[in-house]
Amino acid sequence: MTNSVEFEHPYIRMRRNRQSDWVRRMVCENNLAASDLIWPLFVIEGQNKREAIASMPGVERLSTDLLVEQVAKARELGIPAIALFPNTPSELRDNEASEAINPENLVCRTVRAIKKQVPDIGIICDVALDPYTSHGHDGLLKGEQIANDETVEALIGQSLNQVEAGCDILAPSDMMDHRIGAIRQALEEEGHQNTLIMSYAAKYASAFYGPFRDAVGSSGTLKGDKRTYQMDPANSDEAMREVELDIAEGADMIMVKPGMPYLDIIQRIKEDFAMPTFAYQVSGEYAMMMAAVQNGWLDQEAVMMESLMAFKRAGCDGILTYFALDAAKALKKQNI
Ligand code: PBG
Repeated sequence: MTNSVEFEHPYIRMRRNRQSDWVRRMVCENNLAASDLIWPLFVIEGQNKREAIASMPGVERLSTDLLVEQVAKARELGIPAIALFPNTPSELRDNEASEAINPENLVCRTVRAIKKQVPDIGIICDVALDPYTSHGHDGLLKGEQIANDETVEALIGQSLNQVEAGCDILAPSDMMDHRIGAIRQALEEEGHQNTLIMSYAAKYASAFYGPFRDAVGSSGTLKGDKRTYQMDPANSDEAMREVELDIAEGADMIMVKPGMPYLDIIQRIKEDFAMPTFAYQVSGEYAMMMAAVQNGWLDQEAVMMESLMAFKRAGCDGILTYFALDAAKALKKQNI
């Protein structure tokens, strides 16, 4: 034997703990459960309507009535919360994102429908203006610039509108400065002390959002990129500052996005802040895996479960994933 450590400890055999299923389960360090899963859903206008999304095989945009049926299934399988994203008709998109504050907009109507028919599931609404702007940016444009403080004012309006419709968790994904504090203050002032904020604290300017932009219909309209507000993928310390600020401003939970390419960021955040920490396994991650699955190159259930477990191992308390329903079904089958 050449390895001296092995030679000095001849009776240590790492494979003992792996010899059978029962002992592997006994020493297993992390578990995935349905309660770890949050399901993002895309909603469209109409009745009994479903539309496939070419770049997200297996994911559909649904009209509110069909979407509510899916939410009921999620609830049945023990998924604690869903996240809603509207595909706003193009004639309702403008430079001011005015549809964001319409109490009768698609998201608000859908939130009310879910609350009525599936009252005991959490509803997460995105806070960002991109579903409503004609230019596809998350903020308001002043000339060529995204105007931070004017955008924050609009986000407050969007937040209160969604909360008044029944949204439980606001998830600001816009990356404007000071928005968490401003939204928190407005919630307190308006008597919404119990509204939760899950901050997209470390959101990177990522190429992995492409299929999502197809799903919400902003990929054709987006002018330029989002690098003046979303983070540089090269940075890690900066993510710690973003998280620290969002916690100080009143966030209840923190999110990292995208997921799999940023597991190091998740691990640092969980270690440093010990906050409820979530990851968004984004559309591009889903698309990559599903493209390989469709070619017969990867096994869907196996890669889905492995990728989700990786988030738990990195320290996540939960994962936003387009696989949520499939994963919950797989877990039920495994009796977990
Ligand atoms: C927009 C938003 C994006 C996602 C969630 N909210 C896209 C973006 O920032 O351009 C991406 C989610 C995904 O890719 O699955 N505010």
